[in-house]
Amino acid sequence: METSRRDLMGLAIGGLGVVGVLGVLYPIVKTLAPSAASLAGAMMEVDVASIPEGQVRVVSWKGKPVFVVKLPQGFQWTGKAKEDKNAKLLQGQDAYALIAVCTHLGCVPLWKPQGEAEFNYPVFHCPCHGGFYSPWGDNIAGPPPRPLHVPPQKRDGSKLVIGEPGFVKELT
Ligand code: FES
Repeated sequence: METSRRDLMGLAIGGLGVVGVLGVLYPIVKTLAPSAASLAGAMMEVDVASIPEGQVRVVSWKGKPVFVVKLPQGFQWTGKAKEDKNAKLLQGQDAYALIAVCTHLGCVPLWKPQGEAEFNYPVFHCPCHGGFYSPWGDNIAGPPPRPLHVPPQKRDGSKLVIGEPGFVKELT
């Protein structure tokens, strides 16, 4: 009898301890969570009418560099990607955004509208270890294991809204 009462006391004190620890941790974790102000930066509008055809503008979205690509009218690409994952999402769009971080070791690739090395058509070239990507960010050669990530995005007239689901719903 005496023993079980002591057990109960122990459980009760233990329980209070857990509640106390949670009470201390909760405000700390809450402080670390993104504030409303930083979440507000989760959506960004880029006026694609101001980007010349065939050029790429680099913007910063959620602390990451992002390419906003504006293709020339009737753009045809003659290269071959290892897979067409991004092309399937983005073909038919004259402007779109790609996360500008190489999927190999994180360098920022360069836009080469005239081509580079053995590729005589527009490509992104990562100078760090010689990775190549198609204009849609599909990996075509070198060490990059995957296409460039594609953020959620939608088109609103001449504006591309990055961070808002539209013709790309999720970050790929
Ligand atoms: S970081 Fe881009 S090829 Fe290595």
